[in-house]
Amino acid sequence: MSPSPKSSPAWKALETHRDGIAGTRIDSLFAADPGRGAGLTVACAGLALDFSKQRITAETVEKLLALARERGMAEATVRLFAGERVNVTEDRAALHTALRGDEQVLVDGEDVRSEVRRCRERMRVFATAVREGAWKGATGKRIRSVLSLGIGGSYLGPRLVVEALAARHEGPAVRFLANVDPAAADDAMAGLDPETTLVVVASKTFTTQETMANAAAARRWITGRLGEDAVPRHFVAATANAAEAARFGLPECNVFPFGEWVGGRFSVWSSVGLPIAIALGMPAFEHFLAGAHAVDLEFRSAPPERNGPLLLALVGAWNRNFLGIPTHVVLPYAQRLASLPGYLQQLEMESNGKRVSASGERLAIPTCPAIFGEPGTLGQHAFHQWLHQGTDPVSADFIVVARPMGGRSEEHRILLAHAAAQSEALMTGRDTGNPHRDCPGDRPSTTIVMPALDATHLGALVALYEHKVFAQGVVWGINSFDQFGVELGKAIAGRILPALSGEPADLHPATSHLLGLVRKVSSAP
Ligand code: F6P
Repeated sequence: MSPSPKSSPAWKALETHRDGIAGTRIDSLFAADPGRGAGLTVACAGLALDFSKQRITAETVEKLLALARERGMAEATVRLFAGERVNVTEDRAALHTALRGDEQVLVDGEDVRSEVRRCRERMRVFATAVREGAWKGATGKRIRSVLSLGIGGSYLGPRLVVEALAARHEGPAVRFLANVDPAAADDAMAGLDPETTLVVVASKTFTTQETMANAAAARRWITGRLGEDAVPRHFVAATANAAEAARFGLPECNVFPFGEWVGGRFSVWSSVGLPIAIALGMPAFEHFLAGAHAVDLEFRSAPPERNGPLLLALVGAWNRNFLGIPTHVVLPYAQRLASLPGYLQQLEMESNGKRVSASGERLAIPTCPAIFGEPGTLGQHAFHQWLHQGTDPVSADFIVVARPMGGRSEEHRILLAHAAAQSEALMTGRDTGNPHRDCPGDRPSTTIVMPALDATHLGALVALYEHKVFAQGVVWGINSFDQFGVELGKAIAGRILPALSGEPADLHPATSHLLGLVRKVSSAP
């Protein structure tokens, strides 16, 4: 397989096809075939994916599937699930699927299932002990709150799940602390009692500066009241670096490990999900895993033309590479999915925001679009004006939940009406003869329908996007599992930090200027 798909016959066929339907609007495709909704809707592990408001025809899908074949999608998928070192730049497997699967997978000759089962069993025992009050704080009081520390994948996943499933949260309250801003720590700890708080430090590397600074602050907060001996009763770690957790002072039984083969942004299925298990119970966490596993099975075995994750990926590539759409908006019409756009920003942009192929060649095609979003209907009163009348093209994913939460169907009907209206409006636009009121329309969107916002379907939704990301990486020839781009800023911050304490540092003139400006402004009356 060549590193860049651009010169391939399937790519060229798609370009020709795109030119052929250039003047065809999405709504005219509906006018020509009012039944296209059914034909372009695919079921996936209980979710329904409606692609009918995309600028695609049956021929587009065929040609995209030909591209997938040409890019070796089936073979790449086998390699992913088999535990091959698909993360070639870091020489690692990307085996988050093994955390929710039940098949034998060997990493370095060892079946990872036993390790996964052991860790999951330890999570179950610990989460149950905390929830039932058997695990007590240093002064003998039961744990009432969890302070979950972590950033990136060690934060976004657990936060998404705990928020989304708030309706069935009956365990200890969970506060999340990710940012290194001390105000964030103050806010997260406000009203918490060290005697009844358990701190979960989630960090794959256990060296991430923000998380370690917050862990040190939390430690001062706990030990300031309860003494150093309280640490093993009030701190646990979810990490792939048990040695660092031990250096922090945690005994082995407080460390919930996971393998190096779990990427940070794919780690919610590992012990990083411990706050979920404590808040909602291990059975809910296992339903979340099961929903994801159902999507894994579909992705591996559903025929390509009915394969939800694959089609989501290919339609995304169509919009990005053939229709030239640089921005993608994620619109969950469910307040409890408010964190989904942020979660997907990391998942998609950290995975596929790359400009070189897995073998290091510069790619001649655009890759991951910019992703943003807000829950509906909030975004309608903020940026939807830009979606409808702005100068730049945009594609959208709507996520709707079919059954109302909390049993209040009147408000839920309003929510649904707005979701349907927005996707229709983006497609049809409006021609009034008044340029101020006209909307061009023809903005493509996919609507994902979840039957309910429950653990199983949330797991399915997250896994759907994970495989979308993987499949797009295959189309683009990217290694979706590294993230070297985040290192530069970390290294420069390491040079700047000493300067902020008055130590000599070798600074770029622009940075010297900026730090001087900060000093000046801070000392201004
Ligand atoms: O943002 C870079 C990154 O490495 C992410 O990939 C990861 O999710 C995050 O930092 C946190 O890393 P860790 O879990 O090692 O603290």
